[in-house]
Amino acid sequence: MSDPAYVFDAYGTLFDVHSAVARYADAIGDTADALSALWRDKQLQYTWIRALAGRHLPFDVVTADALDFAITATGGVPDGLRARLLEAYDQLSAYDEVPGVLARLKAGGARLAILSNGTPQMLASAIVAAGLTDTFDAVLSVEEIGIYKPDARVYQLACDRLETPADAVRFHSSNRWDIAGAQAFGFTCTWVNRFGAPDEFGDMAPTRVVSTLAPIADG
Ligand code: LAC
Repeated sequence: MSDPAYVFDAYGTLFDVHSAVARYADAIGDTADALSALWRDKQLQYTWIRALAGRHLPFDVVTADALDFAITATGGVPDGLRARLLEAYDQLSAYDEVPGVLARLKAGGARLAILSNGTPQMLASAIVAAGLTDTFDAVLSVEEIGIYKPDARVYQLACDRLETPADAVRFHSSNRWDIAGAQAFGFTCTWVNRFGAPDEFGDMAPTRVVSTLAPIADG
């Protein structure tokens, strides 16, 4: 068997998608949490619809469309904030444990990669903002193939680019639906259940469940 490759989902797993709205929570007011949750929900929904309909648009476009829906549905935001929120989405905060865990894995000789719906530009910007430059052996974007997760071609991209069979890919995601797709494809999956969500997709279950990425560096 090949050496395992550690592959990470980006948004919600390495990067805190709610950190964009959090930076402007005071300006937004009482609707900030609802805006952030709806923004993420709609963003993901749009990816699934576009994949099923065969109408791919890049993740930055989908993200802006989802923000527009969320802003309207939650009653609006102050002038100028839409643009600032989109800028903040390119500079999301990494979760606290992420830099240390990745540094330990890398020091131990692990190959590290991102496999994400994000565009190459979005991912490059987030990596720099999070201080993770030179951490990853590969940063893989669905833009190479023009379809979103959980289409099997996305997971195949990791096998192809890392030259690693599916059963040697250790995949990590906080998104349970992403874990379902990756497990069905044949990856060895760890679900990072950051918010204590109930389990679902019982026939596509992860091998391991953790609440943060911290235990991953311990093996
Ligand atoms: C990603 C989304 C699913 O990074 O969070 O692919």
